[in-house]
Amino acid sequence: MWIHDNIPDLSGKTAIVTGANTGIGYETAKALYVAGADVIIAARDLQRAKDAKEKMIAEVKGRGSLEIQLLNLASLSQIKTFSQTIQEKYPQVDILINNAGVMIPPPAKTDDGFELQFGVNFIGHFALTGNLFGALKRSDAARVVTLSSGAAIRASGIDFNNLRLEKSYDAWREYAVSKLADILFTYALDRKLKAANFNMISAAAHPGVTRTDLQRHIPAEELKGLFAQFDEVMEPWQGALPTLFAATDPNASGGVFYGPDGDKEYTGYPAPSRHSTPAMNDPVLAKQLWDYAEEVTQVKFNF
Ligand SMILES: NC(=O)c1ccc[n+]([C@@H]2O[C@H](COP(=O)([O-])OP(=O)(O)OC[C@H]3O[C@@H](n4cnc5c(N)ncnc54)[C@H](OP(=O)(O)O)[C@@H]3O)[C@@H](O)[C@H]2O)c1
Repeated sequence: MWIHDNIPDLSGKTAIVTGANTGIGYETAKALYVAGADVIIAARDLQRAKDAKEKMIAEVKGRGSLEIQLLNLASLSQIKTFSQTIQEKYPQVDILINNAGVMIPPPAKTDDGFELQFGVNFIGHFALTGNLFGALKRSDAARVVTLSSGAAIRASGIDFNNLRLEKSYDAWREYAVSKLADILFTYALDRKLKAANFNMISAAAHPGVTRTDLQRHIPAEELKGLFAQFDEVMEPWQGALPTLFAATDPNASGGVFYGPDGDKEYTGYPAPSRHSTPAMNDPVLAKQLWDYAEEVTQVKFNF
């Protein structure tokens, strides 16, 4: 059973956690701080980020440091500004946790016109990782961990003609597509890193079923019914463990999807996920997605 005590010493490492003001991101940032990392709490609201930092300091005695930085993943220009600020302040980035996410919101678009879930969950993190790639390469062993979901198995492909709300909105379908995109990105990035012989890994993680603010768009009555389907629901500290394993454990590998080891992967302790579909492992779809993302973001990874 892999728990927080297994996290190695992270002194001297710089870690960025997106959406670190609450939920799984909060618990991830806190654990990295305890283990000695210099952690950047990246959040779209500075007050919420500040509150989170103060709460962490009140809850634990960290051996690292905590800094807050504004990052709205629904804006490509803000992602660029954030990345420039980070590169000016830090010589390298060792751990990037692409954690922020939005689930089944009312139909909306990002500043750049993407359907909100696809835009924040995938496009934003693609652009962020690409913009920070130089800083990641300067680390002697960088890790990029991208949060996906068991919901990714419900998407059998990506409709490239419906990523900007062109067709009728199906909130759950769009969420699943965004999380499939996160997996395709994770695996494609890892293949490219291996081909370029970089000492950097790209892995994915999911937190099973964890009680967080993610469910904020589900009406209370419906939410009760939804959670009633599950025998157990995890608290955020436990939901963060697969991410923490992928980001810190010496035995974690690139190109692997980590999740909780329980029967249906709703709860448990970190292990390679059994969630796998033809779409998740389709290199042609992965290339199409990568090319699309490069074109629409104008962000190129310098391998
Ligand atoms: N909880 C689960 O059971 C579950 C299951 C599978 C996958 N996941 C994944 O786990 C990750 C973390 O989710 P969570 O459960 O911890 O949910 P959460 O408590 O709602 O946290 C999501 C975080 O993302 C941030 N965020 C949303 N839109 C953003 C934007 N445009 N720019 C920057 N940050 C933004 C939120 O900021 P605000 O607080 O400002 O809104 C919040 O910090 C997500 O990727 C989610 O898809 C969760």
